[in-house]
Amino acid sequence: MSQSSSPVKGTAFTSKIGLIMAAAGSAVGLGNIWKFPYIAGENGGGAFLIVYLGCVLLFGLPLLMTEFLIGKRSGKSAFGAFRELCGNSRWQWLSWLCMLTSLLIMGFYFIVTGWCFNYLIEAIRNTFDSLVGTEALTAHFQSVVSNTPRMILFSMLPLLLTAAVVWFDVNKGIERLSKILMPLLLLMMLLMAGRVLMLDGSNVGVQFFFQTDFTKITPRVVMEAMGQCFFSLSIGMGALITYGSYMPKTQNVTTTSIQVIVLDTLVALLAGVIIFPAVFAFGFDPAEGAELVFVVLPAILQQMSLSWLSSVLFFLLLCIAAVTSTISLMEVMVAFICEASNRPRGKRQSVRPLSRHQSVLITSAVVSVLIVLCVLSMTGAWSSLSVFGHNLFDCFDELTSCVMMPLGAMGMAIFVGWILPKNGVKGKMYPDRGVKRWFWNIYIIVLRWLVPAAIVVIFLNSLKLFDVA
Ligand code: PFF
Repeated sequence: MSQSSSPVKGTAFTSKIGLIMAAAGSAVGLGNIWKFPYIAGENGGGAFLIVYLGCVLLFGLPLLMTEFLIGKRSGKSAFGAFRELCGNSRWQWLSWLCMLTSLLIMGFYFIVTGWCFNYLIEAIRNTFDSLVGTEALTAHFQSVVSNTPRMILFSMLPLLLTAAVVWFDVNKGIERLSKILMPLLLLMMLLMAGRVLMLDGSNVGVQFFFQTDFTKITPRVVMEAMGQCFFSLSIGMGALITYGSYMPKTQNVTTTSIQVIVLDTLVALLAGVIIFPAVFAFGFDPAEGAELVFVVLPAILQQMSLSWLSSVLFFLLLCIAAVTSTISLMEVMVAFICEASNRPRGKRQSVRPLSRHQSVLITSAVVSVLIVLCVLSMTGAWSSLSVFGHNLFDCFDELTSCVMMPLGAMGMAIFVGWILPKNGVKGKMYPDRGVKRWFWNIYIIVLRWLVPAAIVVIFLNSLKLFDVA
């Protein structure tokens, strides 16, 4: 057992592996299983993989280290970390940005997680047997995503589950569960991959996923790889600052970051190895996003031998991946509320300090309202709930991944690269004992120049996504 940096009893990981599993659980999510295989397959396969790995090493690793460092060195969550390190409240906007980003992500992420739970329950009840062919499955998916009460109900299920885990102290809830669920997820994925690779014709899918076509690598594809890297590693919204503040003192930030990155990338690759061979073995076209997971895959799973078991296994692993991510999202806000309400304010203390339980209740209530608004706007039940013609679900998705997460990441890079050294805390931020000086120097150069420059380019790209420029 090692000592953690967190000052509050119970809010700390008691083991290094606990933190690694929880951080990997945050990173591994729907982005890996649902989004990554499709983007990679469509954008040059192996070539995209090389670009993606480049982005992960160049931007993902330094930013992951940065978030862990901010949390570990300050011992505070996203609310107090910036103030604690720079000694004033000038960077407090970054705390609020983190909190708002996690809130908006929860608004749409719980809805997609709800679809996964809906499909898991249907897989258990063998509902797909009566839906033959992709047309019937498309109609079924449409009926799921246009049914307001059903969507709200199914989004509440993972919300309740997440709240139940976050309700407990970090070491008893998040840590204990992550240590069970993450190895289980990996095992299930390996089983699925083995099963799919035994299908006749699966090699075409493997070739599709890994074919290396550099002609497809355009600046837009590089941007896409960078955006995917941020979202997939949960960078730029304080989840890893919060987990960093619970990190055992003796834990090495650099090694932990590398371990999390390896696990996250491994799951994304495994997802591709499961999905594409199956798609090609059964003669389907690789469809995009929601279609792929909720229409094409059920159609494929239906045709496999042991179809019930395969369907249940697949949707179960999707639910596990999603819930370990929602847990980290909720923890950002819960830790934020706890810390904000417990902050000493001198004599005129007007806010009553809130307990972890009260913070979980407040967070769940606010997120429930957001979910309901998103669903109403999506299904058209409340059609005036839209921004620039986009429903709230799409708005939250695009706003967080294209603007808020990159902005948060850029703020953190500038904070650690430029602001802290000026305040004389460079020594305090030095990553780990034994880390070579050249490594630290490269790390700082990347934070100061490369990360902000790359993020400005992402912004320009996302402006195009919003049709502003
Ligand atoms: N990394 C998650 C995924 O790939 O699905 C998404 C995510 C989870 C983003 C938690 C941010 C976060 F804090």
